[in-house]
Amino acid sequence: MTRALVFVTGGSSGIGRAMIDTLPFPDARVLNFARRSAPGSEHVAVDLADPAQWQRVAALFESALRDFAGDRVVFVHAAGTLTPIRFAGEGRASDYQRNVLLNSAAPQVLGDAFLRALRATPAPADLLFIGSGASQSVYEGWSGYCAGKAAVDHWTRTVGAEQARRGARRRILCVAPGVVATPMQAEIRETPPRDFPEVARFLALHDEGALREPSAVARELWAVLDRDLPNGSVLDIRSG
Ligand SMILES: NC(=O)c1ccc[n+]([C@@H]2O[C@H](COP(=O)([O-])OP(=O)(O)OC[C@H]3O[C@@H](n4cnc5c(N)ncnc54)[C@H](OP(=O)(O)O)[C@@H]3O)[C@@H](O)[C@H]2O)c1
Repeated sequence: MTRALVFVTGGSSGIGRAMIDTLPFPDARVLNFARRSAPGSEHVAVDLADPAQWQRVAALFESALRDFAGDRVVFVHAAGTLTPIRFAGEGRASDYQRNVLLNSAAPQVLGDAFLRALRATPAPADLLFIGSGASQSVYEGWSGYCAGKAAVDHWTRTVGAEQARRGARRRILCVAPGVVATPMQAEIRETPPRDFPEVARFLALHDEGALREPSAVARELWAVLDRDLPNGSVLDIRSG
């Protein structure tokens, strides 16, 4: 019998992929929801910037949890995008819309679907969002991303309080991982200063070797789940 059930969005690259590679459970069923696949996981090909496809994710939460008799459930929501790195009002409307749907709406709607599907099992469950310091800082050129990360922080606090009140063993956490060497960071470094005025700082961080490896960060993120943190905690991995 499979002991753990792990859902990962954005498991095809960067931090999400590293979470799959460093899975701490010896016997787990892992589903990766992304457009691309990842070794070590079942691939559910979905474009999470398309609301019409969210129902497929919800249906898979339902079916996987209905058949689950193990003792641990984790949902790592890592899917996110900076694209388009542009000032608001200066890019294509459709690109901006996709950014908002993926970064702001998908985490909330999929979080709600996950909690609803969890009614099928008494197993303890964690929902871990990959947050960002961008939720609190102004980065010109990243408005949809900054606002989306702020939305996820506050959804975490609010739904964490709800789950604590219910006394349910469903914990919601949001953890910012620091600056991590992934394709998302490469995209930042390739952006002209007109669209992202702080690009020089990110180029310098890269040149100084300050970016952290995804696998090291992933291990720390798994370790966060072993801590006795209050439901709804929002934290930065660098400050503990
Ligand atoms: N890297 C950093 O320094 C850093 C810092 C703070 C927070 N974060 C956060 O960490 C998370 C992972 O980022 P990363 O750095 O690992 O970036 P990444 O390597 O670019 O990975 C992004 C992931 O999101 C998925 N994704 C993007 N658009 C999607 C869509 N429309 N539908 C489904 N999946 C989609 C991608 O999968 P597909 O392309 O296969 O669909 C990919 O697996 C993000 O939430 C990001 O905000 C990263």
